[in-house]
Amino acid sequence: MTEDDERYGLNWPGRRAALAAAAAPPLSVLEPRPASGLAEASTRNLLVEGDNLEAMKLLLPEYAGSVKLAYLDPPYNTGQALVYDDRFGGGRGRREPDPGYVDLRARRHAAWLSMMLPRLMLVRALLHPRGAVMISLDDAELPRARELCDEVFGPDQFLATLVWEKVHTRKNAARGFSVSHEYVLAYARDARQWDRVLLPRTDAGAYRNPDDDPRGPWKLDPVTAHNPYSARYKLPTPWGTELPPPTGRFWAFSEETLKRKEAEGALVWGRPGRYPMVKRYLADVQDGLVPTTLLTRDMVGDTASARRELDALLGAKGVFEYPKPLALIRQLLRIATRPDDLVLDAFGGAGTTGHAVWQENGADGGQRRWIILQRPEPLSPDVPRQRASAAFCQAHGVCPDLAQVTRLRLLKAAAAVGGAELGFRVACVRPREP
Ligand SMILES: C[S@@+](CC[C@H](N)C(=O)[O-])C[C@H]1O[C@@H](n2cnc3c(N)ncnc32)[C@H](O)[C@@H]1O
Repeated sequence: MTEDDERYGLNWPGRRAALAAAAAPPLSVLEPRPASGLAEASTRNLLVEGDNLEAMKLLLPEYAGSVKLAYLDPPYNTGQALVYDDRFGGGRGRREPDPGYVDLRARRHAAWLSMMLPRLMLVRALLHPRGAVMISLDDAELPRARELCDEVFGPDQFLATLVWEKVHTRKNAARGFSVSHEYVLAYARDARQWDRVLLPRTDAGAYRNPDDDPRGPWKLDPVTAHNPYSARYKLPTPWGTELPPPTGRFWAFSEETLKRKEAEGALVWGRPGRYPMVKRYLADVQDGLVPTTLLTRDMVGDTASARRELDALLGAKGVFEYPKPLALIRQLLRIATRPDDLVLDAFGGAGTTGHAVWQENGADGGQRRWIILQRPEPLSPDVPRQRASAAFCQAHGVCPDLAQVTRLRLLKAAAAVGGAELGFRVACVRPREP
């Protein structure tokens, strides 16, 4: 290898094949499954049963550039086999990284990256110019996911790594640390154009108007700040003295601004010797709150509450192992969608995203639409981890596979949310006839 061959970037055995998988034309068709959904004649929501790479390729002609929020909750790569089947270049079957690659850990990362790369490329093609992708992850793949997204979306499109407090219990058997959080990695299609939505104000109650100020409710802000401000003037007081900023602090406003605020009656003096405060009017602050990167369980629920809400809805325990809380997805919807937007969930699982979209529409009168993709992974009563899901399918008289779990959840969610607007069509990814 010469220096010319060296370059900075993420590389792994199987990368070229993964790029080929993204570029290969689809080998399947989307076949409608009438009478499997709900209110099918009037709805624009769509559940696709099939591998998400093939499904996204088939959706591309109709939906390119139209997804405002793509939520991805891929397998976390905890060591279990990844299920995907990317056929490309005419070949068929499950693709493995180069068999010469012997380091098992690295091989596992390679498989995950090979699964994610083509899917992220398709997600990018589906994203609206003002849209974003949000990816649930834990520490197993966060560093590589960030590099991969830098490559697919561009490093300038990085928005944030949100931290979700997923549990409050401490695992005393944990080696080192008991992990309380996961991540949501957010990238924009174009960060300069990203349509971030401000969150509803939760602090409006802190603004009051005890003096009937004609400019409306206000609250008091300090007149000094930690951060240096170039002007170090002295402020004249109503008692004929002059105040310098306190030691180690700075004026938060220029001399000119403070004078103007005083003339407008927005500077409030207390007892002599004390620093004044400045009125901040509710009418002057932004229409909402800028989202922060911390998603606490008080705000958005945790894994235990997610399981409880799903068990209650399905009337059965443990049908889906790791659903996300509805409130978590709703928070992402609030930040990244407006009432008419299209949402894509490419790793549908228990269909939480569809349910959350319906709830959010109910809350703000919106008409967001969703597309959910889920592989029909077979479920066997003989596999302990699949027993509850297989039994659930059997109890509902449907074929035991994960896409049926998604479909049944969405049917039950529609009944729980209620309202005439709820519906979805179902289609499956079917190999094209030779
Ligand atoms: C972590 S779960 C998603 C859970 C979901 N967010 C919820 O709240 O229920 C990941 C899901 O993606 C599905 N999946 C994995 N690989 C897939 C693929 N290539 N195509 C479609 N679905 C896939 C899995 O079957 C699983 O249901």
